[in-house]
Amino acid sequence: MNENLEKLYNLREEAQLGGGEDRIRKQHEKGKFTARERINMLLDEGSFDESDMFVTHRSSDFGLEQQKFLGDGVITGFGKINGKLVAVFSQDFTVFGGSLSEAHAEKICKIMDSAMKLGIPIIGLNDSGGARIQEGVVSLGGYADIFLRNTLASGVVPQISAILGPSAGGAVYSPAITDFIFMARNSSYMFVTGPNVVKTVTHEEVSFEDLGGADTHASKSGVAHFAMDNEVEVFEGIRKLMSFIPQNWKDKPQDKFFDFSQNYSVPELNEIIPDNPNKPYDMKKVIKLLVDDGEFFEVHKQYAENILVGFSRIGGMSIGIIANQPAVLAGVLDINSSKKAARFVRFCDAFNIPLLVLEDVPGFLPGTEQEWNGIISNGAKLLFAFSEATVPKITVITRKAYGGAYDVMNSKHIRGDFNFAWPTSEIAVMGPKGAVEIIFNKEIKNSENPEARTEELIEEYRKKFANPFIAAERGYVDDVIVPSETRVRLINAFQTLKTKVDENPKKKHSNIPL
Ligand code: HXC
Repeated sequence: MNENLEKLYNLREEAQLGGGEDRIRKQHEKGKFTARERINMLLDEGSFDESDMFVTHRSSDFGLEQQKFLGDGVITGFGKINGKLVAVFSQDFTVFGGSLSEAHAEKICKIMDSAMKLGIPIIGLNDSGGARIQEGVVSLGGYADIFLRNTLASGVVPQISAILGPSAGGAVYSPAITDFIFMARNSSYMFVTGPNVVKTVTHEEVSFEDLGGADTHASKSGVAHFAMDNEVEVFEGIRKLMSFIPQNWKDKPQDKFFDFSQNYSVPELNEIIPDNPNKPYDMKKVIKLLVDDGEFFEVHKQYAENILVGFSRIGGMSIGIIANQPAVLAGVLDINSSKKAARFVRFCDAFNIPLLVLEDVPGFLPGTEQEWNGIISNGAKLLFAFSEATVPKITVITRKAYGGAYDVMNSKHIRGDFNFAWPTSEIAVMGPKGAVEIIFNKEIKNSENPEARTEELIEEYRKKFANPFIAAERGYVDDVIVPSETRVRLINAFQTLKTKVDENPKKKHSNIPL
C-alpha cells in the first residue's frame, strides 16, 4: 500500500478516538455521548462530510507540545437533516475537556463562514470546559471571533445550539446569541459564574443543576428554549424544529402536501369558550383543533406559560403561533411573556414564517414588581416586534381583547393582514367591572344598592361594548366568524397571503426597546 495512503488510514483511525478510550469510557459513564456519536444521531444517516480532521493546536506552553489530538477538541463539517444541508460543529470533551483553543475556534469560524456563504443553518453541539486555560488570551480571542460571526449570522441563517455538558463563563454568550438553545437534563449546565464563585461572592449555596441546569434555564431564566430528558431527545427535537424552518432569510419554509378537497370544519370549537367570561379554558386545545394533524411544536414550553409560542402547519404551510393562554394567569401579558413572544415573532419574521395570533388577553399585569422591572419597555418589545414584522400576519380574537393588549396582539392597526373575531369576543378599553367603576363612580356611590347597581351597569356595558361588532363596523376586524369555520378560514387566508410583499422604511437598523 502507498505509504501516504496507509498514513491517511492510520490518522483517520486515530482521529476517531479523540482523547482516547479511557476518556471516551468516562464520557459514557456520565451518560453522555461522544462528539462523533452525537453527529451521527443528529444527521441523516451517512450524510456527514468532515472538515479539518487533522488540525491540531500550535501551543507549546505547559507541556502542551507533548499532547496533541487530531481535530483539537471539535469535530466540524457538513451534513443533512431531513435531506437539507446544515453546517455542524460538535465539541469533543475527551480532548482537553472540549476547551476552546485558537485552532479549535478557527475550525468553528471556518464552517460558520461557509454556512453564511452557502445560506445553510449552523448547529453547534456544545460540551466544553471553556477557554483552553494553557493558551490564555489567544483562546479569548477565539471566542470573540465566534461571537462576531454569531452576531453577523443572526437573521441570515438559523443558528441552533445544543448544550450537552458544561458551558460556563463567557463561553455562554455564543449559544445566547443563537436562535434556539436545547439543553439535556442532568448533564448540561450554563452559567456565567459557577457554584463556587457564587458561594464566595454572595454566600449562596446552590448546585450546578439548580444554578444553571436545563430546567432552571427552561423555566426560570428563559435562556433555554427546550429542556429534554436526554441527548437523544435533543437531536430529535432539533430535527423536528428544522422541519418547520427554511435554510436562510431568502428561503421559505417547505410546504407539506395538503388535501384541499376535504371538509375542515371543526364543530367542537363552537363549544370551547365557557359561558362565564371569567372561566379559563386551555388555548392548547384550540390550537390542536385548528392546525394540521393537531401538531404543535411548542417553544419555551416551561417559561412564561401565560403565552404559548411554537410552530405548526395550516393547509400544509409552516406557521408560527403566538397565543394567550387563559388557563395560566388568565392569559395576562407580563414582562416574561412579552419577551418570550417578541423574540419568537422576530425569529419567524426574519425567516419568512407566517404568524397566527390567537388572542384572549385581559391586559397587562398590574403591580409594582412589574412596573419596577420595566413592563413598559418589555411590553413594548412585543408591540415593536409585531409592528415591524412583514410576514403574513393573522389574528383570531377568541374572547378578551382589552386595552393596550388589543393593540399589541397584532391588531389591524399594526398591519395585521386578516383579523378575525369569534362572536364571544370582548373588544374594549378595559374589562366591564373596571370600566363601570370608573365611569359610573358617582352614580354607584349615590345609589341605594351600590352592588346591585354595579351589576346592572356591568351587564349594560358588556352588552354595549364587550362584543366584536363595534370593531367590525369600523373594519378593525375583517370578519366575525363562527368558531367551527375558523380552520377553513385560516387555510384560505394563509394561501391568499402567500404572495404578500411588505417592507419597512430603509434605515441602518431599528432600535427595539431592549
Ligand atoms: C484546558 C481543560 C479545561 C480548560 C477542562 N480541561 N477544562 N483543559 N482548559 N478550560 C481538561 C482537564 O484538565 C481534564 O484533562 C479534562 O479536560 C476533563 O476535565 P475534568 O476536570 O477531569 O472533568 P470534570 O470533572 O467533568 O469537570 C469539568 C469542568 C472542569 C467542570 C469543566 O474541568 C472545569 O472546571 N474546568 C475549568 C473550567 C473553567 O474555569 N474554564 C475557563 C472558564 S472562563 P485530562 O487530561 O485529565 O483529561 C472562560 C472564558 C471564556 O471560558 C471567555 C469568553 C469571552
